[in-house]
Amino acid sequence: MPEARGAVVVGASGGLGAAFVDALAARGEVSTVLALSRSGPLDESAAGPGSARIVRARIDLTDEASIAAAAALARTLAPPRWVIVATGLLHAPDGLRPEKSLAMLDGARMARLFAVNATGPALVAKHFLPLMPREGRAVFAAVSARVGSISDNRLGGWYGYRASKAALNMLLRTAAIEWARTAREGVCVGLHPGTVDTALSRPFQGGVPEGRLFDAADSAAKLLAVLDGLGPADSGRVFAWDGTEVPA
Ligand SMILES: NC(=O)c1ccc[n+]([C@@H]2O[C@H](COP(=O)([O-])OP(=O)(O)OC[C@H]3O[C@@H](n4cnc5c(N)ncnc54)[C@H](OP(=O)(O)O)[C@@H]3O)[C@@H](O)[C@H]2O)c1
Repeated sequence: MPEARGAVVVGASGGLGAAFVDALAARGEVSTVLALSRSGPLDESAAGPGSARIVRARIDLTDEASIAAAAALARTLAPPRWVIVATGLLHAPDGLRPEKSLAMLDGARMARLFAVNATGPALVAKHFLPLMPREGRAVFAAVSARVGSISDNRLGGWYGYRASKAALNMLLRTAAIEWARTAREGVCVGLHPGTVDTALSRPFQGGVPEGRLFDAADSAAKLLAVLDGLGPADSGRVFAWDGTEVPA
């Protein structure tokens, strides 16, 4: 089997996803970054001297066939030692927005949030964990959110987003338990990136304290540093950008 020097980023068109692609491509130990996105340009680019090759392709987390096709493409590249899912949905131009009260709940919209925030990353795990090395360290991470913590929920609101991120955390933990049976050094975790200046947070940045709105590159670098410090005993848990654990 060829050396596992590949990395995969799902959601490469997003603020954090693009930053993860750049940061992973700049790592000497990474030979290829498979940058998967639902939109954005697909041209292949070399990221600079000594950097990895970036291969861009499509994925839609609501279409499992596209996830399977992306995994088939990944099989033709260096096996992935890192898979980072940086997709997410909170609001959309068609009127999807976080619910402030039960009266605002809408079944179809909640189903959409769950499809992108919970089921989609789990399907990525279904198709990509089997491609990751059984020997040596391997990292599967999905960007979650602190608001997905049930015990930390003191403010209420944002029903669908919160619940779908809580579901994501449970799916990651369950996958971590299964994966540990075949990949003893596997690390499967959720990540909280802090409040990051991206399209997702833009309508809600008003109350963010001075100095706590992160640049996407800064947040991605912090999260990769956190991942570097995690071991198999941490698998199944959720960690914030500062390395602290987010409670379940
Ligand atoms: N920004 C923050 O302050 C913050 C805080 C806590 C957690 N997070 C989490 O961080 C992650 C990254 O978000 P971001 O801040 O970088 O937001 P973003 O810039 O809006 O990126 C979201 C990404 O998700 C992709 N996506 C949405 N639906 C998809 C689908 N069906 N299939 C494939 N891709 C899909 C988007 O693709 P398109 O470009 O095609 O729409 C986009 O690339 C999310 O999980 C979010 O919940 C962010």
